[in-house]
Amino acid sequence: MILITGGSGHLSTLVAQKASVAGLHFATGSRHAAGGQQDTRRIDFDDPGSLDFSEVETLLLVSAGYAEDDVVIARHGAVIAAAERQGVGHIVYTSLTGTGDHLGFALAHRWTERRLQQSGMAWTILRNGLYAELIGSLAAPVDGVIRAPFGSAPISAVAREDLADAAVTVLANPASHAGAIYELAGTDAFTIADLARELDVDYLPESLTAARQRLTVPPLLPFQPAMLMSIYSASAAGFLQAGGSDLRRLIPDEPRNILQLAAAALRAVG
Ligand SMILES: NC(=O)c1ccc[n+]([C@@H]2O[C@H](COP(=O)([O-])OP(=O)(O)OC[C@H]3O[C@@H](n4cnc5c(N)ncnc54)[C@H](OP(=O)(O)O)[C@@H]3O)[C@@H](O)[C@H]2O)c1
Repeated sequence: MILITGGSGHLSTLVAQKASVAGLHFATGSRHAAGGQQDTRRIDFDDPGSLDFSEVETLLLVSAGYAEDDVVIARHGAVIAAAERQGVGHIVYTSLTGTGDHLGFALAHRWTERRLQQSGMAWTILRNGLYAELIGSLAAPVDGVIRAPFGSAPISAVAREDLADAAVTVLANPASHAGAIYELAGTDAFTIADLARELDVDYLPESLTAARQRLTVPPLLPFQPAMLMSIYSASAAGFLQAGGSDLRRLIPDEPRNILQLAAAALRAVG
């Protein structure tokens, strides 16, 4: 059986829908699962006692970020250790694209990749690109002007749904993807100026200093400004454009239109 963690999240929900269509035998794990449901387990990476991987042959470990590195590392470490003890055969991990090496959340991903590679289990690493939906939501205009400091370089964002398709391809036949690290940045790229044109708004990039001052007020959590600033900084320095991508090898159709997805996400929050 396959177990998909993070069941209530956007990515896991898409993976579960697609796994169902593909006829895969799977269950989901979530902190929000009520006990007693046949296809859902309560799995909370912060609660080692909840990590029940009985009957699981393949585990889709969806990263549980949104915390300081030590917290994320402890979460992922607990999952991998429990999977080792309980005889899980293969872990598929949703990591971060190599273009994201300078991002504030890269370290916990790279730690998890290394820990998996040192485990006795088979593994596949999906180095997911930044979601087009995320970039769109971070570029929301105020009074008709996008002011975020993304700079002018293209960003190889990717549709979350394409990443879900890629995950299902691997889950359908994990053995043939054992030991593979797939780089899943977008095959296309857009600049924030492209996004502004698409929405018919202006783009006046602010400085990193001005953005940091804007971000260090509530309701952001203490770790969040640094992570957001690292996205802006990496983008402005041109580090978020990928040289290549394995996406087409793992998805059934042409990649989705990232500019339109980013624009839709921006409209939803703007
Ligand atoms: N590539 C990108 O652009 C990008 C952007 C944002 C985040 N991410 C990473 O990719 C992951 C999936 O993205 P998403 O869009 O689906 O995020 P999302 O919709 O915000 O969902 C957050 C996910 O984190 C899980 N989670 C949080 N704390 C957990 C814990 N203690 N134990 C188990 N699971 C926990 C949630 O699972 P339950 O609530 O169901 O337990 C849920 O699946 C995120 O968690 C984050 O690590 C990637």
